[in-house]
Amino acid sequence: MYQSSTIDHRIDHFGRTLRRQLKRLYGDVHDVDDLWERVEEILRARHEDRSAALRDLDATRAADPNWFVAPEMLGYSTYIDRFASTVPGLEQHVDHLEALGVRYLHLLALLKARKGDSDGGFAVADYLSIEPALGTMADVERLAAQLRKSRISLCVDLALNHTSDDHHWALAAKAGDPLFRDFYIVVDEETARLREKDLSQVFPGTAPGNFTHVPEMGGWVWTTFYPFQWDLNWANPKVLLAILDAMLRLANHGFEAFRFDSIAFLWKEAGTDSRNRPAAHHIVRALRAALDIAAPATLIKAEAIVPTAYVPPYFGADEGEGFEAECHLVYNNSLMVAGWVALSEGDAALPEAIIQASGGLPPGANWLSYVRCHDDIGWSSVLNDLASFDPKPIERLTQAARFTEGRQGSWACGEAFQSDGASVHGTNGTLASLAGLERATDEQSRDAALRRIRLLNALSIASGGLATLFMGDEAGLLNDHSYLNDPQRRHEGRWVHRPDMDWEALDKPTARRIISDINALRDARIASGGAGGPEAFDTGHPALLGVRCGSDLVFLNFSATPISVVLPTDCSDRLIGRPIDRQAILKPWDVLWAGVSE
Ligand code: GLC
Repeated sequence: MYQSSTIDHRIDHFGRTLRRQLKRLYGDVHDVDDLWERVEEILRARHEDRSAALRDLDATRAADPNWFVAPEMLGYSTYIDRFASTVPGLEQHVDHLEALGVRYLHLLALLKARKGDSDGGFAVADYLSIEPALGTMADVERLAAQLRKSRISLCVDLALNHTSDDHHWALAAKAGDPLFRDFYIVVDEETARLREKDLSQVFPGTAPGNFTHVPEMGGWVWTTFYPFQWDLNWANPKVLLAILDAMLRLANHGFEAFRFDSIAFLWKEAGTDSRNRPAAHHIVRALRAALDIAAPATLIKAEAIVPTAYVPPYFGADEGEGFEAECHLVYNNSLMVAGWVALSEGDAALPEAIIQASGGLPPGANWLSYVRCHDDIGWSSVLNDLASFDPKPIERLTQAARFTEGRQGSWACGEAFQSDGASVHGTNGTLASLAGLERATDEQSRDAALRRIRLLNALSIASGGLATLFMGDEAGLLNDHSYLNDPQRRHEGRWVHRPDMDWEALDKPTARRIISDINALRDARIASGGAGGPEAFDTGHPALLGVRCGSDLVFLNFSATPISVVLPTDCSDRLIGRPIDRQAILKPWDVLWAGVSE
């Protein structure tokens, strides 16, 4: 319907959704017609700036809005400096991404960040510049175009919840400019104390509390994360206008996807935990409608690391006015955690429950599945899911976290992430270290670790999401403790799993095997035709997870013991490309991808 549509058509169509969000968000206090006029001006101006090549892309994508929900989609996420030093440097490594079959590339810490500690680039000092040491926006435009030729879509983080304390908005606020002061949330000591009672802490060890006293601001600035990350005041419509404009300008530089960072936190509401508030969804819907109008080729990926039940609404919802879309992609954090819990317990119950809870996607949407990313494994998002079949979910998660940390006779080698003691601690570590490769002392334990790596990659790929690899995991890179020597990073345990890419490791047997397993899994998924919402089937064995991928049946053995299965007739093993016997045996941590002829 929209492929030949003009901006006027799109304003007419998506503008209604956008206006509705303005009314919901600001209608009580502000003149919505006036606001809409300013929004429309931005939409038209940014669309006017959009290059012919990107407008062509808009038309191509609009003609095939499900383009990213396809079996061949595979993602890769990396810190650009650790992967390729600079943006131009990355151009030399596109062949590696192509060989993996990558179609979507998320570059971390690309935008200009705060000087000094910047929370891995998530304290953004300027949404519209590239971190100077990495290159320029012109370099990024060239890279994006090169990637597009290789059918790889470039994704950048858009930190929506906060700017750094040296963003020019924050500097102006500190200098006393009332316009920018109102971009942030400043409260007095008593209010901060009261609010704190309802809030939980993201970094209780390194950044306790949710407010930071800033004398120049004459009070306490809301800082959910680090004290230098100042939460934006989205109740002020000028924040929406400023971010919307920055987002569209970035899209015009060639980014095809935005990772909306920390979106659960956008709306603060007294007397609540200020997470997942309805208004946070209205903000995201407004931004989505703006992209649908002015840069419709662009995808939004939601990062909402919250309990499972709160996650699907980030795809969008119907509040009585028809379905209002939010994000095209949403991290399936719960499935990632469930994979690690299952591995630590030798029991597939949790991933099965999460898969049941992850179905029913709206059209033009998919999960982003993954095994590891740049953050820790935070376990508490699956607490309620576990509680549905286990009366002691906290104890169970604590055990899983301890096991993954390397205690309790485990083969894993991880590190506890900070915790406030009230909840289960998170765990840091690379995929290879957490799966046992670091501790493997002989061929047998090495082989077992490599099977566990394949098992988790299989869960991510077979479950139908846009499976996204994290840098270095394809090479089996181990935990890297060098961050401890860097005063700006040594307090942050997450750096242990953000090593420099080791290009030489790629020629070694470990990397060759992991990559060949990933290739085989990806090829199997393509052959199965499966993508989109995951579906589980009952295998009759508690340690054996059954995932339906397209027409295929994928069996994942999460236990340390062999399991036998009876297959339908005429199956072939997609991973080795041979017919298989009806009665098959899966080794410990083995994967059997049974291609079922229709
Ligand atoms: C997101 C990022 C994380 C960062 C936080 C604050 O959760 O993934 O790395 O610390 O937001 O920006």
